[in-house]
Amino acid sequence: EVVRVWSGRLQLEQQLAKHLHIKEVIIVPGNVDTNTNATMLLSQEAAKYLESILTDEKIVAVTGGSTIASIANFVHETTKWKQLLFIAARGGVGKDVSFQANTIASLFAGKMNGSYRTLYMPDSLSEEAYTTMKKEPFIQEMMDLYERTNIVIHGIGDAEEMARRRNTNEHEIERLKEEGSISEAFGYYFNEQGEAVHRIRTIGIQLKQLQHIEHLLAVAGGAKKAKALLSYFKQAPQQTVLVTDEGAANEMMKII
Ligand code: F6P
Repeated sequence: EVVRVWSGRLQLEQQLAKHLHIKEVIIVPGNVDTNTNATMLLSQEAAKYLESILTDEKIVAVTGGSTIASIANFVHETTKWKQLLFIAARGGVGKDVSFQANTIASLFAGKMNGSYRTLYMPDSLSEEAYTTMKKEPFIQEMMDLYERTNIVIHGIGDAEEMARRRNTNEHEIERLKEEGSISEAFGYYFNEQGEAVHRIRTIGIQLKQLQHIEHLLAVAGGAKKAKALLSYFKQAPQQTVLVTDEGAANEMMKII
């Protein structure tokens, strides 16, 4: 029975990877929407995957969000790494400090004997501020680190939920809807076809930079995220590995 269930999941993993045009899909049992045990399994599996690809002298960029924050709890404490660098994939400040990329980068570094670089800045900059900021040496340094990043660990969210979490005003939320935003990742909002229809004006890793990064680890689960995942993966780089749960996987298969 166990073997049968497991092989069923393996098949689903392969089917999904093929459909999403990505390297690999790893599915954990359960649905994070309703089951805290699934959240733990998702984080554990992502931590395990990260540990399996790590080597020394790597630059690892991490995004914010509750999923990625939780992974840091499951990586094993070690001092074997001497030259690991964790960086925030995007700038951030604000109330929800525990789920910010900056905080998460420092958590990973603390556990794995790495160092970390943070990027504190408002989530949405004015055009002028953005242009000026980009010339600052510490931003240039960060942009250079993004160019040399080896591993990215990132979350994916539902567009409207993310906009609300960011206290986006109703007018802008309406605009996002009109533009057809379905998913959000890296501060970009994507429509059903996977086109980036909107971007939060802040300093961070660029979509085009993801293309040449060796390891992209996307971690997102829950049936509620199925549509968002299908939208994001319409454009995701093919080297991406997705760690998800049965809730999201089954729901995606229903839509496909
Ligand atoms: O805000 C950072 C971020 O990674 C978003 O890009 C993504 O949509 C979201 O967090 C996912 O958050 P959670 O894991 O809490 O659903």
